[in-house]
Amino acid sequence: MTKIFSLDGKVALVTGASRGLGRAMALALAGCGAHVVVNGRNQAGIAATCAAIAAAGGQATPMVFDTTDITAADAAIDCIEAERGHLDILVNNAGYGNAKTASEATNAEWNEIIDVDLNACFRLAKRASIGMIRRGWGRIINISSINAHIAREANANYCAAKAGLEGLTRALAVEWGPKGVTVNAIAPGYMMTPDNMDTPLRADPQQRERFAERTALKRWGQAEELDGAVVYLASNASAYCTGHVLIVDGGMSVKI
Ligand SMILES: NC(=O)c1ccc[n+]([C@@H]2O[C@H](COP(=O)([O-])OP(=O)(O)OC[C@H]3O[C@@H](n4cnc5c(N)ncnc54)[C@H](OP(=O)(O)O)[C@@H]3O)[C@@H](O)[C@H]2O)c1
Repeated sequence: MTKIFSLDGKVALVTGASRGLGRAMALALAGCGAHVVVNGRNQAGIAATCAAIAAAGGQATPMVFDTTDITAADAAIDCIEAERGHLDILVNNAGYGNAKTASEATNAEWNEIIDVDLNACFRLAKRASIGMIRRGWGRIINISSINAHIAREANANYCAAKAGLEGLTRALAVEWGPKGVTVNAIAPGYMMTPDNMDTPLRADPQQRERFAERTALKRWGQAEELDGAVVYLASNASAYCTGHVLIVDGGMSVKI
């Protein structure tokens, strides 16, 4: 049974894997046999993720680039294809919000979030799809957010970008399905990651409790609680699943 979750022989790129959810998903994919290319903008962070993967008996390669830099992102995909022979799994995880209200956000602040959370994911998927389509097998997994479905104040650009990412997921699934490439998304709820855009929220005991109370499970998620979702969508276990958004939110979105 565990064989259908095996990623032996596969090469995966996880963007934004120097910490947080990306790091946890990189470890999970490597734990199932994938060679993981670990991306971020911060050399020390991605080196630490690679070391953790190696310590657990997995294989990883660090690759520093900014996903919003079109030339660098294209070159990174081409480099993986050239050096490893194939890129089979792309996890578009790098992303963040800047907590600007719609009223105060400048055009530049709006565009920054659309660029990292939506445009960069599209461009990476487009480039990665070339080799995947040629080989007739590929997995693209976009990391959305529960904020694509339910909005939070001071987050309009982030909500719009993540909702756009889910629309893009469905469109690419339809376009590339006949060519053997599945495209799905994971929409996490509020997860405990050490240092991210929600750190100020978690630091406030009342807000921390308010968000826990909003879920059916009465708690925030842990980064490792995406492991099953990402391995499922990356492996043959999800062969007939495409264009899907897998919500992993402790039941926040189904609770009144
Ligand atoms: N944590 C949550 O509760 C939650 C909930 C829903 C959705 N999400 C989504 O899950 C993803 C990860 O969130 P997280 O909480 O793990 O965030 P995080 O802890 O802030 O980590 C973000 C990662 O992305 C990298 N990164 C940011 N911009 C980048 C860029 N332009 N190019 C390359 N790497 C970049 C960062 O590394 P460097 O600084 O080294 O570049 C870091 O590794 C995001 O897309 C986020 O929207 C998170």
